[in-house]
Amino acid sequence: MLTGMKHLHSTLAIVLLLALVVAIVITLANYSGKKPYNRKIALLGLIATHLQFLVGLIIYFVSPLGIQSFSGENMGNSLSRLYFLEHPLMMLLGVVLITIGYSKAKRQTDSQKANKLVLTFYIIGLIFILSRIPWSTWSLFA
Ligand code: HEM
Ligand code: HEM
Repeated sequence: MLTGMKHLHSTLAIVLLLALVVAIVITLANYSGKKPYNRKIALLGLIATHLQFLVGLIIYFVSPLGIQSFSGENMGNSLSRLYFLEHPLMMLLGVVLITIGYSKAKRQTDSQKANKLVLTFYIIGLIFILSRIPWSTWSLFA
């Protein structure tokens, strides 16, 4: 089960990064062209993010690199610390930011304000996510 989940998490990471970039680019085009807010495209980014978060959460409790390796000794190992602490924490913050952006934009009646909200929250969320991806060990590239 862990192997399957890890493959899913690894592949979904690509889907998620693409979905966020597409959502940001289209929203930016709508914002600069003063066009209506496209909720569907923002929703695509939100769903990909939530799905990946759920898969990550499951892996966290199953993988030996997740919560099981939470210890003072592993704190001193930067790769261990990335897996059991930094990666989950920064991803959580990124997901929360993206969810807040989507949610605030949904309740916004002014299109330009909705576009700006999604742009701001999605870009910061994406930066958080990019900052703590385990690039050096990502099985898709390694
Ligand atoms: C640990 C798991 C998850 C948590 C804690 C979570 C949390 C949330 C929260 C707080 C919202 C509210 C956003 C708002 O105010 O509109 C939300 C919306 C949403 N979530 Fe998740 N979610 C999770 C998993 C998933 C999964 C697995 C999917 C689907 C694949 C999903 C799809 C959605 C969709 C479609 C919406 C927004 C619908 C809309 O308002 O238009 N979520 N989620
Ligand atoms: C939402 C955005 C997330 C992205 C883009 C992401 C991306 C990735 C990537 C690319 C890997 C490397 C996979 C590989 O080596 O094949 C990975 C591993 C991992 N992720 Fe995530 N992740 C996310 C969220 C989470 C969350 C929320 C958790 C835990 C709560 C989590 C826990 C883990 C763990 C424990 C590993 C190591 C798995 C192992 O090799 O045993 N991830 N993640």
